[in-house]
Amino acid sequence: MSDRRKILVTSALPYANGSIHLGHMMEAIQTDIWTRFQRLRGHECYYVCADDAHGTSIMLKAEQLGISPEQQISNVQAEHEKDFADFQIAFDNYHSTHSEENKEFSKLIYSRLRDNDHIAKRDIKQAYDPEKGLFLADRYIKGTCPKCKTEDQYGDNCEACGATYTPADLINPISAISGATPIEKESTHYFFKLPEFEAFLKEWTRAGHLQEEVANKLGEWLESGLQEWDISRDAPYFGFEIPDAPGKYFYVWLDAPIGYMASFKVLCEREGLDFDEFWGIDSSTELYHFIGKDIINFHALFWPAMLTSAQFRTPTKVNAHGFVTVNGKKMSKARGTFINARTYLDHLPAEPLRYYYAAKLTNGVDDMDLNLDDFVQRVNSDLVGKVVNIASRCAGFVKKSGGVLADNIIEPQLWQKFVDAEPVITEHYENREFGKAMREIMGLADAANEYIAAKEPWKLAKEEGSGEEVLGICSLGINLFRALMLYLKPVLPAMAEQSEAFLNDSLTWSEGLQPLLGHAINKFKPLMQRIEKDKVDAMVDAGKEEAAVAAAPTNIAPQTGPLADEPLAAEISFDDFIKVDLRVAKIVKAEHVEGADKLLQLTLDIGDTRTRNVFSGIKSSYKPEDLEGRLTVMVANLAPRKMRFGLSEGMVIASGDKKGIYLMSPDSGAMPGQRVT
Ligand code: MSP
Ligand code: ZN
Repeated sequence: MSDRRKILVTSALPYANGSIHLGHMMEAIQTDIWTRFQRLRGHECYYVCADDAHGTSIMLKAEQLGISPEQQISNVQAEHEKDFADFQIAFDNYHSTHSEENKEFSKLIYSRLRDNDHIAKRDIKQAYDPEKGLFLADRYIKGTCPKCKTEDQYGDNCEACGATYTPADLINPISAISGATPIEKESTHYFFKLPEFEAFLKEWTRAGHLQEEVANKLGEWLESGLQEWDISRDAPYFGFEIPDAPGKYFYVWLDAPIGYMASFKVLCEREGLDFDEFWGIDSSTELYHFIGKDIINFHALFWPAMLTSAQFRTPTKVNAHGFVTVNGKKMSKARGTFINARTYLDHLPAEPLRYYYAAKLTNGVDDMDLNLDDFVQRVNSDLVGKVVNIASRCAGFVKKSGGVLADNIIEPQLWQKFVDAEPVITEHYENREFGKAMREIMGLADAANEYIAAKEPWKLAKEEGSGEEVLGICSLGINLFRALMLYLKPVLPAMAEQSEAFLNDSLTWSEGLQPLLGHAINKFKPLMQRIEKDKVDAMVDAGKEEAAVAAAPTNIAPQTGPLADEPLAAEISFDDFIKVDLRVAKIVKAEHVEGADKLLQLTLDIGDTRTRNVFSGIKSSYKPEDLEGRLTVMVANLAPRKMRFGLSEGMVIASGDKKGIYLMSPDSGAMPGQRVT
């Protein structure tokens, strides 16, 4: 192809402090479909991504698990890569922002910004946790809402009344990390002088690099004036130290988008590609970032400004998408509508979800609902009922007449309809209107099914001398199926591959659609099973249970790493310790919890007038019958916590590691209700 385009594509770098969920996966699937489409059309197209490994939350997460941040990010990266691979996301490279390449590019870009006088330095006052020795971002400060007086509200907005405020307005603010009262502390920060790019950004955001709705939104901000952007954080921070500013680190969002370059650099080294051809200031290649609408500022303001100052090219397009909701609700752990990619894969195959997302995707920023009933219905009706059905109805008759397709197309008009649809489908894919592409394709599938239903080859086959006509009808059916699978190949790569084996042919899209004539095909094997609603229900339950276990008031030990790595918590006074009322408890009843894989429900006697109900994540190590009658230790004055399965009124004390969970027991002679000190 003479007009072979050179294209580099990215999706946003997921944070290394949690699992990939079905929202992240929507973005990866959208990006993957687009890049597979480009490659299928014969273009040179690369797709890179990485884990976003820096920042306070990753540092704290590692600390909580008792492992080093390096260990944490490497565990998570392995998990992320496996999740993406199992959803058939075909990255050309997957890297980490905590890498040598990224450090080099971050240093380079920062030093260019500084040399261009785009960095300012000044002292600012911030909330500081004196116990933990850490500056506190808004989300790490909790307190009572100044408006409605609800306690335990985070940072800058109240979940109860919706008020927004600054953490300084909170009544009785405390550090969410240590519980200490924050103090104000001054330190030097480094700022990127974004206002100097106002004229550039006013033009750039209107030059076709953004969706119109996004450009309009940014236009409002640009009118109200830009602020300098704080790009530094004080130690302790997990990130890159700023050159010539010891003890200061790049804010995670400074080096995160640079991670796109770093990941591509690794690919260049491996494949012998020319990095500068893609990132040089006068590059003629194309660069696309696929992102969610929550991170538009970073990609459409800060990033193009940084790249311009540092003499690199800017993106061809920043493609923003909306958020995935589940059954009409925001994905939320508390509501049980939060589904991890792995939970999905434990119950269902990847391709139905790829198809469902494709069928609902537009090129806009509206949210997209994953309605689970609609998902089952749509996949079964479109993919199994329409597409696979064509092949399964026709394959047998072709096989019976020797396994070779007819030499001609029996109904040229119908075939032509499929040929004519190609430019329309191509355009929809190119414009990221995947929903429109899927509707076009399913319209063709309907036409193919109507044709076969009208011709009834299964009836015709019983008539004497009908062999040639039956072969003609079914050969056309197989050719129509092949065209559909070609058009669906970016969405359903595995099913396309199985179809290639059946068709004894490779599905390529760079030259026009030609029918297979006089061509031998192979035995047909079922390409996709119907989705059972049970499987979907089981997935939802598993998701809810994971959320409940994550919130369970049980001392579940680190998931990884040797326990000895767990650092000691901050020193406390005896008065602090005595606040925790530990009691010897007798397990009078232990039961399985319906629908929970990890929890047991314990009824505990602590020698007073009523028993306590506690849910504990110890099912993997204990049989209920072995626990009954046994003594253990419980935290008896913990505030009760409402869980999906009921109220939990305390927690039992256990330690644990990868191998098991070990419940603590008092020595013989101890009596239920005795205080443990
Ligand atoms: N680490 C940053 C991105 C840095 S890019 C240089 C980040 N990470 S994230 O893990 O929070 O999100 C990764 C991507 O997933 C973002 O584009 C985000 O918008 C997207 N999504 C997160 N939740 C989502 C949904 N519920 N639905 C769709 N996309 C969602 O932001
Ligand atoms: Zn409030």
